[in-house]
Amino acid sequence: MMVRAGLTISIVVVACFMAGCQSSQDGFSTATTVVGTLPDQSEVRLHTLRNSQGVEVGILSYGATIVSITVPDAKGSMDDVVLGFDSLAGYRGDNNPYFGSIVGRYGNRIAGGSFVLDGETYMLARNNGPNHLHGGLVGFDKVNWESMAASDGKRTSATFRYVSVDGEEGYPGTLRVTVVYTLTADNEVIVDYEATTDKATPVNLTQHSYFNLSGTGDILDHELALNASYFTPVDSTLIPTGELRSVFGTPFDFKTTARPIGERIRDNDPQLVIGGGYDHNFVLDGGGDSLALAASVYDPLSGRTMEVWTTEPGVQLYTGNFLDGVEGKNRQVYGPHGGFCLETQHYPDSPNQPAFPSTILRPDERYVSRTMFAFGVRHR
Ligand code: BGC
Repeated sequence: MMVRAGLTISIVVVACFMAGCQSSQDGFSTATTVVGTLPDQSEVRLHTLRNSQGVEVGILSYGATIVSITVPDAKGSMDDVVLGFDSLAGYRGDNNPYFGSIVGRYGNRIAGGSFVLDGETYMLARNNGPNHLHGGLVGFDKVNWESMAASDGKRTSATFRYVSVDGEEGYPGTLRVTVVYTLTADNEVIVDYEATTDKATPVNLTQHSYFNLSGTGDILDHELALNASYFTPVDSTLIPTGELRSVFGTPFDFKTTARPIGERIRDNDPQLVIGGGYDHNFVLDGGGDSLALAASVYDPLSGRTMEVWTTEPGVQLYTGNFLDGVEGKNRQVYGPHGGFCLETQHYPDSPNQPAFPSTILRPDERYVSRTMFAFGVRHR
């Protein structure tokens, strides 16, 4: 941005070529390219957001999927800190464990794939053992969203829209969803969700990026702090039992002090044995209204830090327990704990658990949710 004699002049450059469009304004830029075509002939676009510090976020229209977040380490070297694939085929393949996508209509599990709403029983796909997971067989991670990107001099963003029709995957009501990803000058990636419906329906949207702040190896030495005094213990199929259990004195205590994710991950605690590590919803202290700090992560190897802020009442800590040698980008093979997810959300199985905060959206309401991933570095 140039400032002259009290006047603010913004420089905007837009250029379009065969391969796509690029625009830049005051150190922010967006680039859009077409990276493939789906069987229904719709084009899959890749939007790349860049700020003046050289931080870049790549997002695909397929699944509104974050495919890369490139941020500096403590010495200024840039690395991509999310897991993913080199090609669209990877994201569309059976081995994709929801890398970087938006999951919905209901992120996380619904017990037995069914719920009762206003006296009516709804049946959903049981795509995870006996339960429904992440919106079903073709959830929001497997659809091509309408998309566009733009910069305004203070930030750069990409907007994604999807209309999920009444009955899709068994859910009631046509749900109109908008997700906006914004990259700020301060290396924050903000995710804004909005949705409206024409019939009452459960909605629980989340972002399913797997982070590894070293960009390689596993995440067991990453130090994690969670602003949560309680978590929701689960049964053997990872459905909450309904109890809110205190974390204190257990391997789930990331509240008292930050500790390496791997410090107690192999403890013989029945809750850790069930899923081979952490795969649990934490109840955020005071969470659920304004944007509040949910988690802080520090990677001693690279010096990178990440904070997660959210308006949601919960966050699922998933430590990549089921990663079993997924062949990912840059010839990396992701094994157990190759990445961690912090999925901001309402609690799992809320449609069947009246004591949990409600996830039901009604026609006269608007679903609004915000999560921010803020990247930085810490010098020892
Ligand atoms: C769930 C895991 C699941 C993973 C799918 C996470 O949100 O909590 O249980 O395996 O998503 O990749």
